[in-house]
Amino acid sequence: MNTQTSLTDMIADSLELRDGIWYGEKGLYWSNLSREDNQSYIRELPQLGAKATLRKYFPQHEEVIFSPKRMGGVATLDLRPEDRILDAGCMWGALTVPLAYTGAQVVGIDQTEESLKFLAQRKAEEGLENLTLINADLKKIALRAGSFDKIVLNGVLEWIPEVENVEVNQFTTRRPGLWESLRRLRQRPPGHQSPREEQVRFLKKIAGALKDDGVLYLAIENRYDIYYFLGQKEPHCGIRFFSFLPHGLQNLVSLLLRGREFRNWTYSEGGLRSLLRDAGFTNVDVLYGFPGYHFPELVLQKEGMRFFRSAAMAQSPSRIKKAVKKIVSHTVFGIFKARALAPAFIVHARKI
Ligand SMILES: C[S@@+](CC[C@H](N)C(=O)[O-])C[C@H]1O[C@@H](n2cnc3c(N)ncnc32)[C@H](O)[C@@H]1O
Repeated sequence: MNTQTSLTDMIADSLELRDGIWYGEKGLYWSNLSREDNQSYIRELPQLGAKATLRKYFPQHEEVIFSPKRMGGVATLDLRPEDRILDAGCMWGALTVPLAYTGAQVVGIDQTEESLKFLAQRKAEEGLENLTLINADLKKIALRAGSFDKIVLNGVLEWIPEVENVEVNQFTTRRPGLWESLRRLRQRPPGHQSPREEQVRFLKKIAGALKDDGVLYLAIENRYDIYYFLGQKEPHCGIRFFSFLPHGLQNLVSLLLRGREFRNWTYSEGGLRSLLRDAGFTNVDVLYGFPGYHFPELVLQKEGMRFFRSAAMAQSPSRIKKAVKKIVSHTVFGIFKARALAPAFIVHARKI
């Protein structure tokens, strides 16, 4: 962090610095890896370095962290070296590190200490002095009003209402026994705030932390992605034909099959616009990410749909699936320009 900017200009809480990470109020655990797996790689991280550790312990995630395609969505922002950027829910730094390479002052916040230790190693190896890492709960940390030019929420908003620790594979495949499911069903629903209310409250906080002319970059799945109708699993619970069900029915199915309430709400384009409006964003541009927002190959605006290339949707190891995807996407997006069924939204939202 350079002399012009100090952490206290952006964060009102008192944080404690240990081994390159600032610590605030703890949140839940969220990772693709179990805590045990995380602990074993962290021990070797300083000797092996970030990439060799990744290749030894979790090579299946190399693409998710290092693919240049990850920045395809964020590249639609007008990024300037004089920006202050908050990557909220930064995890392993797939976007945080490339954002720091723009020369901007970047702050990455995540609740999972283990993910930040990996990112801290990358920061040290790559000499990214302009990157600050904070381990804290985004819902609890006090962000100073009007302090960021850009705030990035990439695959994070849908996790904000979560009330359990998440180890992704286990979270999306867990099958409670019939007895446990019935017990969960009979229990009174917990007195949590509705997921939408929590998301609005959180987005209001984000709006407050942005400068008046600041931009929120929000990337999230479309609840009505065409592929959900064709049997693709909903990624936050791993259940097919789930995403487009009414929320009451989602809860029932999730309680039965996963033993928990479903809180990872995603939206239609209209639903997302209304959510953002309720949070104080009056100027909202929605872009469409293909084949999704994780590795976007195509990011189109409404008018850009005529440039749709079905190849971007056709990724699949199976040739038959690939062909089906190509035909479906060509028809749905190439011919009918059905934006309402796009896989993901990439939103630039402003207060004015
Ligand atoms: C799906 S990952 C997205 C990671 C990253 N933005 C990317 O695109 O690679 C969600 C991340 O959000 C973080 N997260 C979710 N809720 C959070 C909260 N309340 N406070 C801090 N981090 C949170 C999780 O720990 C996790 O690392």
